[in-house]
Amino acid sequence: MIIANEEPIAGMDADVIVEREAPIRNQPRAEVRDAMVESIAARHEVKAERGRRFAEMTSLRVGGQVDWTLSPTGEEQAARVVHRLDKAHILWRVLGAGSNVLADDADHHYVVINMRDLKGTAEFDGERVSVSAGYSLPRLCVEAVKRGLSGIEGLGGIPGTIGGALWMNAGAFGNEIGTVVESVRVARDGNVVTVPGAEIGWYYRKTSFAPGDLLLGATLVLKNDDPEAIAERMNKAKQQRLSTQPHGARSAGCFFKNPPGGLSTGRMIDELGLKGTRRGGALVSPVHANFIVTDGKEATATDTLALAKEIKRRVQSERGVELEYEVELWKGSDEIRAEAKSNTDESEDER
Ligand code: EPU
Repeated sequence: MIIANEEPIAGMDADVIVEREAPIRNQPRAEVRDAMVESIAARHEVKAERGRRFAEMTSLRVGGQVDWTLSPTGEEQAARVVHRLDKAHILWRVLGAGSNVLADDADHHYVVINMRDLKGTAEFDGERVSVSAGYSLPRLCVEAVKRGLSGIEGLGGIPGTIGGALWMNAGAFGNEIGTVVESVRVARDGNVVTVPGAEIGWYYRKTSFAPGDLLLGATLVLKNDDPEAIAERMNKAKQQRLSTQPHGARSAGCFFKNPPGGLSTGRMIDELGLKGTRRGGALVSPVHANFIVTDGKEATATDTLALAKEIKRRVQSERGVELEYEVELWKGSDEIRAEAKSNTDESEDER
């Protein structure tokens, strides 16, 4: 068995070293991990980049640097890559269009699996369409309308990927993606596994998928309908979106969920007079109060989060409602270290 501090042996397969090293030390230290990531990327022919910033990968345009970004282009390839990372105990997270993520300003010491290059093509077959996770949701909606297929026209203007939409059961204007999913392809143990839609929990902006699940693609079942009627519904939804939500602004869509019981978060924040409230480069949109938008080069995730917390505090104290974030908050260093430590503790218990 290799001791904890041993360096990878030049010329030896990093994946093999990992398997032997893992029981002693779950989270490889930075240089070892970097060599492993490089080796995994080379072996699976996946693009690997260092030091990309969340400020250029997310729609809020804020957030710090991430150690590694891997960009698979195929479903099988992506499944194999995350399996290798798992075996090496290298932490990873999945990013689609970055349109529902607020990543903090710290350095993020993990691997981002960037799904944007895993686009493939949308394969239509009658009322079915099979599509990969990185495919653009608005594009799919347009393609479906062209073919006279109904079921997702309300999702037309949501700026995200299919993978992101599936992950959070995206919805708008009467459509939710979960209602039209026949099956989702998920990475399991290095393979592409097809999970029937009926076995997945589809909730309000949430699903039964958990961190560690990499969604690779899906087959949707739509319904034939009059193309003009579908196009009209899609345009109506677009118009409504344009007139009620900020357009072209740097945002992550609605920042908080609507609470159960029919209250509207946007209305509550608006009624508290918070529209236009600013913290540095982050402000409550003057158009829709449940959108936080950022502007200027100096905008930070710290400002954005401070503003979100202020909104949360005001709604709690003045309306007695505990808001839940709809966006995902991605923490940098500290949280990841804590996670790594608890993994190490667990594996020590097992021994
Ligand atoms: N309202 C205000 N002030 C505001 C915003 C809204 O008074 O600043 C009022 C509206 O006039 C309306 C009510 O609040 O009476 C609800 O507003 P809206 O119709 O805009 O819907 P919403 O509940 O705020 C939800 C989704 C949106 C989705 C729209 C349209 C959530 C959190 N938001 O917004 O989804 O586009 O319905 O279906 O569920 C997203 O998921 O990121 C998102 C933007």
